[in-house]
Amino acid sequence: MLAGGRATRLSPASRATSKQLMHVYDKPLVYYPITTLIHARIHEILIISTPDQLPLFEHLLGDGSQWGCRFEYAAQPEPNGIAAAFLIGAEFIGDDDVALILGDNIFYGSGLGEQLQAYTSPVGAVVFGLWVPDPERYGVLELGPGGEVVAIHEKPLVAPSNYMIPGLYFYDNSVVEVARNITPSARGELEISEVNSHYLREGKLDVSRLPFSTEWFDVGTFDALLDAQNWVGGQQHRKGLLIGAPETAAHREGFISTEQLQLLAAAPDQGEDLMKSGYGEQLLRFLEFEAGERFVAEEDASP
Ligand code: DAU
Repeated sequence: MLAGGRATRLSPASRATSKQLMHVYDKPLVYYPITTLIHARIHEILIISTPDQLPLFEHLLGDGSQWGCRFEYAAQPEPNGIAAAFLIGAEFIGDDDVALILGDNIFYGSGLGEQLQAYTSPVGAVVFGLWVPDPERYGVLELGPGGEVVAIHEKPLVAPSNYMIPGLYFYDNSVVEVARNITPSARGELEISEVNSHYLREGKLDVSRLPFSTEWFDVGTFDALLDAQNWVGGQQHRKGLLIGAPETAAHREGFISTEQLQLLAAAPDQGEDLMKSGYGEQLLRFLEFEAGERFVAEEDASP
């Protein structure tokens, strides 16, 4: 997970703290992409940030064992591009396949976890295409007459389609070598779109369309932050359940037991602070929700 950068578009709010540590409604922004990875059943995560902010991430997230994960940390001294994550993380990746998620991207959608689980051992690369009204702000897909992807453009002046590539990518182990061989763009960055273009040229890029119902936020500006805050708060009030909570995701995916979730909710080692804020109660409510689901499933199964 890449959670560095200067976040100049959020200045002065980002001057003393990292964007990814700011809160989106009731939890730090970084919880949301971690939750997405957990739903993809990924539990070994390297968190990359700036040298000065990295200790704060470690303080917040620890070694990951509380959520059945293993977290490691690495510094990116300069924001020299998203694809630099594969060079910084080369040793962590070892011989494995790898996913990269941007620390300011929030994903939410019914069945998204299962969709992602299908892509964790790709041949080449898997990226996603999502219809947005303002594609020129992102990596954009150029489509041929049959809807096939013919090119990828990073922030083009005029977008060739409305399909952008959000910040979640799956690769086989070759990505480390691919990232080593790309050259910095005009803005001096190792561009992720350059990496994806390489796989496209090789015929090894699978582009999967995300359903239009998928909620996605790139929390890079004041308005995007406010939108995400309002959306999460509104959804949680209506549904009465947390969105983007690593604790409940970890329980759902079998990373932690019911007892472990109950312990996280009470957080006795932290003075039961989660109970005081109401977050702990919401975690416990998730267990009631899951029990209800089992009841419905049993009803369905009866003759
Ligand atoms: O959000 C999806 C988009 O993310 C993609 O569609 C684009 O293809 C991709 O280039 C990227 O565009 P952004 O303009 O959003 O990239 P940005 O420079 O804002 O960086 C995204 C996040 O990654 C941000 O939270 C900061 C972090 N980052 C970025 C760079 C360049 C780092 O941690 N290190 C870096 O060197």
